[in-house]
Amino acid sequence: MLKGEIIDYIRALARTARLMSGYGWSERNAGNISMLLPCNGTEFPASAPKRSFRLSFDASELNGRVFLVTGTGEYFRNLALSPKEKLGIVRVKGTELELLWGFQNGGAPTSEISAHLRSHAVRLRENPAHSVICHTHPTNLIAMSAVHSLDEREFTRTLWKQCSECLMFLPDGVGVLPWLPCGDDRIGAATAEKMRGFRVVLWANHGIFAAGNGFDDALGSIEIAEKAAELYLKTAHLPIRQNISDVQLLELARLCKLSVKEGYLNV
Ligand code: 13P
Ligand code: ZN
Repeated sequence: MLKGEIIDYIRALARTARLMSGYGWSERNAGNISMLLPCNGTEFPASAPKRSFRLSFDASELNGRVFLVTGTGEYFRNLALSPKEKLGIVRVKGTELELLWGFQNGGAPTSEISAHLRSHAVRLRENPAHSVICHTHPTNLIAMSAVHSLDEREFTRTLWKQCSECLMFLPDGVGVLPWLPCGDDRIGAATAEKMRGFRVVLWANHGIFAAGNGFDDALGSIEIAEKAAELYLKTAHLPIRQNISDVQLLELARLCKLSVKEGYLNV
């Protein structure tokens, strides 16, 4: 039996996946989620590892860390139906992941495991509370990546100017990567590099990665960015009569005591 706390995390992950699916961001098996668990693996019965998975990079920095991760190819609308098949709990050991629980019937960790683990390693250094990484396919952000400059300063400024909450909850802005093939270590390493300065990283013409101190926090950041992208797409082709000016953004930052990304405001 899993301890109650771990069952709660599994439920919370499945609920987050279901929300993403409800938003229309999880077509087919789109999206993946991981969480660093506050345990060392000894909680699991029959601790002799049943299976292991090979990584395409050396994750020794995370040795001994235990993660709850979604399985590759799984549909987010269905995770709660059979979590033991669709989710796994793994422990990092160099270039391998030891399976401690789950992935029954041959399941395996998400194909984006490199981006998740590498991002966890970076975010743990930036903010040890950032235990959750979410990847999903938000429609408006992906559409915006097709028509907007991919310069992350410009992209971020456009988002901030759409609605107050965007600066308030994403004062670091949004990092942007050009399109890259997904599911390998190249995009994983590039994502983690961006995670040094951003907790949200957009993959042009694909989706988004976000780190947070829980499922709500990580998903909430994506919701904010996605709302701003939707507002942009709804108005970009119309004559803009007003948006939030740089002076107003600065006023908001001062009022909310935000440390806004250096050099991103024109004031
Ligand atoms: P997985 O099913 O392997 O997690 O892949 C989904 C996805 O969104 C790839 O970027
Ligand atoms: Zn994806």
